[in-house]
Amino acid sequence: MTFRRSQVAGCGSYLPARVMTNDELAEIVDTSDEWIVARTGIERRHIAADGETTSDLALRASTAALADADVAVDELDMIVLATATPDETFPATATAVQARLGMTRGFAFDVHAVCSGFVYAMAVADNFLRLRQADTALVIGAETFSRILDWSDRATCVLFGDGAGAVVLRSAEGDGGAGDRGILATRLHADGRKHDMLYVDGGPSSTRTTGHLRMRGKEVFRHAVVNLSSVVGETLADAGLTTDDIDWLVPHQANRRILDSTARKIGLPPERVIVTVQDHANTSAASVPLALDAATADGRIKPGDLVLMEAMGGGFTWGACLARW
Ligand code: UT7
Repeated sequence: MTFRRSQVAGCGSYLPARVMTNDELAEIVDTSDEWIVARTGIERRHIAADGETTSDLALRASTAALADADVAVDELDMIVLATATPDETFPATATAVQARLGMTRGFAFDVHAVCSGFVYAMAVADNFLRLRQADTALVIGAETFSRILDWSDRATCVLFGDGAGAVVLRSAEGDGGAGDRGILATRLHADGRKHDMLYVDGGPSSTRTTGHLRMRGKEVFRHAVVNLSSVVGETLADAGLTTDDIDWLVPHQANRRILDSTARKIGLPPERVIVTVQDHANTSAASVPLALDAATADGRIKPGDLVLMEAMGGGFTWGACLARW
């Protein structure tokens, strides 16, 4: 019997040209390069130019992913774009990317799960492909978090950056075993009771403003390590695999200490964790596909490797996606 899988056909990413260092931030708020590096591992972040939108970043990442996959725009059946910083309240930023790619068929929509957005979007696209409602999907994570930061709050403004990453998924037949190439398992979770730990204090229906990001960092940190290590275990178990089988963990890049603690908790050696937080900071939904693109481009992730992506963000939301490359 054959089994339908969603295979990763290609990756792409884009980072705005402007790089902001920790020293530059120390000129704006009472912080230091030493504090930021020691507490987070972040050394720099990219910041979108005035007028540069989430769809601008997403379009560049998408074009690169389509070229890497050798897939033409008219082969795409769907676009799912994860973002918490859309160009406009509506329509979906995915439809802006669709139009600018020149895609005139299929469907396009946004997924909003903040930092878990890309993992959510992969799970959604995988389900469409496995249910035969699409054959080829463009999955994007794109953010301009610089627009929702309170640049006077040192506890949050030093942590985030802008960027975009994308993957092309194509359906293929496998035998249903863990050796199949493609997505082997996805797991999603949410707990809306944790709203106050990480949210934006604005929105069209509440304050009619865009608002700013607010976070209780210590509590987010504590929940992140517990939730991420448990969802990793669930996802591996769904595929009948263990931590020893993982070639690469590609975590959401929020804080170097969260990455290290989670890897330790699941018993994975640090050399099998892809880390980009030093260069990108936390780019929310873009962080996992940015890290994927970096690690495939430099040859670390190779065809046949078992790759586990995981993320946690506002909501809380969290989840994981296990794929054989
Ligand atoms: O995608 C999910 C989104 N978010 C996260 O994953 C973030 C999770 N949390 C974290 O990464 C960490 O909790 C932070 C990096 C945000 C903070 O690290 P921490 O070790 O939990 O520090 P803290 O909040 O306990 O603050 C320690 C001290 C405080 O001063 P006092 O009260 O000890 O005098 C803060 O006011 O550090 C101070 N502080 C800063 N000092 C210099 C907070 N932010 C800064 C700063 N520069 N930027």
